[in-house]
Amino acid sequence: MKRALSGIKPTGKLTLGNYIGALKNFKKFQDEYENFVFIADLHALTLPIDPIELRNNTKDILAFYIAAGLDPNKTTIFLQSDVSAHSELNAILQNFLYMGELSRMTQFKDKARKLNENAIGMGLFAYPVLMCADILLYNADYVPVGEDQKQHVELCRDLVHRFNARYNKEVFTMPSPYIPKVGARIMSLSDPTKKMSKSDPKGDIFLKDDLNIVRKKIMSAVTDTGSDIYYDKENKPGISNLLTIYSALKGISVEEASDEFKDLHKYGEFKKIVADTVIGELKPFQEKYLEVISNKDLINNILNEGAKKARIVANKTLIKVKKTVGLYVHE
Ligand code: AMP
Ligand code: TRP
Repeated sequence: MKRALSGIKPTGKLTLGNYIGALKNFKKFQDEYENFVFIADLHALTLPIDPIELRNNTKDILAFYIAAGLDPNKTTIFLQSDVSAHSELNAILQNFLYMGELSRMTQFKDKARKLNENAIGMGLFAYPVLMCADILLYNADYVPVGEDQKQHVELCRDLVHRFNARYNKEVFTMPSPYIPKVGARIMSLSDPTKKMSKSDPKGDIFLKDDLNIVRKKIMSAVTDTGSDIYYDKENKPGISNLLTIYSALKGISVEEASDEFKDLHKYGEFKKIVADTVIGELKPFQEKYLEVISNKDLINNILNEGAKKARIVANKTLIKVKKTVGLYVHE
């Protein structure tokens, strides 16, 4: 059976962009594939973060996973730091990725640019190495992520070629990024030329936002001149972003959505329909979130069971890799 794996790091507040680009798609795989979804808490340490905030974010993400429809009986849900094989494989793989290619990663360049050189941690630089370990331990065939993570998965593919060729055997499975056709890059509502990102609160819809606020944010989203509603990312970035959000949540193409609104010619009406759609999706999601986040036993239980299942799969791969590279594996 094919395998899918993905994760989200527990930093900042999750946005509608995370929901549409990542979270919503994790569920797609749980009925057809062996599905692994984890919380990338070690990755969260790559930039300074308050421990209490990290712990709260971690619980939030778990509750979001369940609220988005992940079923712990079908999907192995776990914490990255609970499975020590991630760190161990990371230590091996760091010898197979090179300074040059790591320094060319867009995410690293973006994050490092904002920091003083003395404050750029090794972990931030080596972020994709740990991400490769995450993916390869589970022999994932598919990795559902938003557009911005595609480069990291591509790097992981290079590593698989390199590693398998070096040892002349199929040690690792070749992963493919799974990028949603619609919504891989949701833009900010206040500046639709910029990505909606959790570190930039302006123009974001946060998954925990009060629904009245969500409506207000959508109604005041920056749009473009004119009154026609159709998809044109270059000339109508605001309307195109709202059409994308609508299409992704409705599960239709942007062409179909544009067709639905071709006779409307009223931005206000259009925004109201988009707001209703987003709220219709977030309302049951938030209710389920609240139910899970207040149930400590449920959270502990899911994480304990998930860690047990994940360790079995991960340790098996780790032993195979250790044997391959010549580490002495004794009984
Ligand atoms: P991050 O917020 O960088 O931790 O990303 C978590 C997941 O959400 C990754 O798979 C990202 O690619 C995805 N993601 C983040 N922001 C967006 C966005 N604005 N639109 C679509 N996907 C996103
Ligand atoms: N880097 C991803 C993000 O920014 C999180 C992540 C860590 C991940 N390891 C992964 C995603 C492995 C997919 C597969 O959110």
